[in-house]
Amino acid sequence: MAATKTILKALAGEAQDVPPIWMMRQAGRYLPEYRATRAEAGDFLSLCYNSDLATEVTLQPIRRYGFDGAILFADILLVPQALGADLWFVTGEGPRLSTITQQAEFDALKPASDIHETLSPIYQTVRNLSGALPSETTLIGFAGAPWTVATYMIAGRGTPDQGPAHALKAENRPLFEAIIDRLTEATIEYLSAQIEAGAECVKLFDSWAGSLSGEDFDKYATAPAKRIVAELKARHNDIPVIAFPRQAGEKYIGFHAATGADCVAVDDSVTPEWAAENVQVSGCVQGNLKSSHMVTGGDDLVRETRHIVEAFRGGPHIFNLGHGITPDADPDNVQLMIDTVRGMGRGG
Ligand code: CP3
Repeated sequence: MAATKTILKALAGEAQDVPPIWMMRQAGRYLPEYRATRAEAGDFLSLCYNSDLATEVTLQPIRRYGFDGAILFADILLVPQALGADLWFVTGEGPRLSTITQQAEFDALKPASDIHETLSPIYQTVRNLSGALPSETTLIGFAGAPWTVATYMIAGRGTPDQGPAHALKAENRPLFEAIIDRLTEATIEYLSAQIEAGAECVKLFDSWAGSLSGEDFDKYATAPAKRIVAELKARHNDIPVIAFPRQAGEKYIGFHAATGADCVAVDDSVTPEWAAENVQVSGCVQGNLKSSHMVTGGDDLVRETRHIVEAFRGGPHIFNLGHGITPDADPDNVQLMIDTVRGMGRGG
């Protein structure tokens, strides 16, 4: 059946005069209604595992702005937690996990098939959303890509250069590869369950792909994505997949073909002209307005938004930021971005 929702049309390769739009981290601290629900939940992880409140925060930006896509509210680090790692968030600092640097720590993890009990509230959130969203809104599921999630599992926290993960890769490659394999299997299981619960497409966040170079990029960013995409498409009737190998640079070229992803999301370190010429030629592209425009607004926001829509106009495009919106963003600037995109129909 031909797609009718604008995001699914773009994922099927259709160029549209007005591109569909959603925003990474669209449910988040820049919205007062999010902060209120988050306070009700207590802490961030309690919010993720409370299906009713996670449904509510996912819907908040849809009610306020009418985005074309709703992304499930959860976190990429729930998968290591479901595999048995300890996970907590330190206010003002970020995530902390028990580390995996020794074979014995890896051996204590659960098999990928055992993640579902921990993650069942997330699947319930997807089911809730599937029934609650407006008929034109696409429900987007997601997971972290194995390399990015591994960088947090190995270091036990976020790191500026992913040093601990690179060190383990150099010092104990069999263990490093076993972690990547376990995460690849768990990601397939997790995304598969989200799709069964009603996700209409899924996005794989490889936020630290840019720190892999040469053959490492091919082995630990491209190959796991390829395996995940192939398995999901085989199990779920060719379900569309968005891949986000952030800061991949030249490695964005050919990423559709190398992984089988329907859409490649690009960050704002590449120009839209470059991405149109080198990436959009092989499929749908998502991106790539710099998040700081959501803080600064004004004429620069309008000019850059138009520039991006025009650069990608010849082919399939989903408008988005180049990375997540930040807590200091002004909600009015989000509205200005949306009005600018939607005011750009030909002859309009
Ligand atoms: O896009 C979306 O709105 C979907 C939900 C989503 C969240 N995190 C919610 C969240 C998604 C897709 C993520 C992905 C994620 N989480 C990534 C990869 C994507 C990226 O941004 O590059 C990473 C590295 C994480 C891990 C994580 N979770 C970090 C580093 C942080 C920030 C820590 C902090 O204290 O600010 C989080 C927290 C988080 N994840 C928030 C949200 C809305 C903020 C939570 C809060 O304090 O309310």
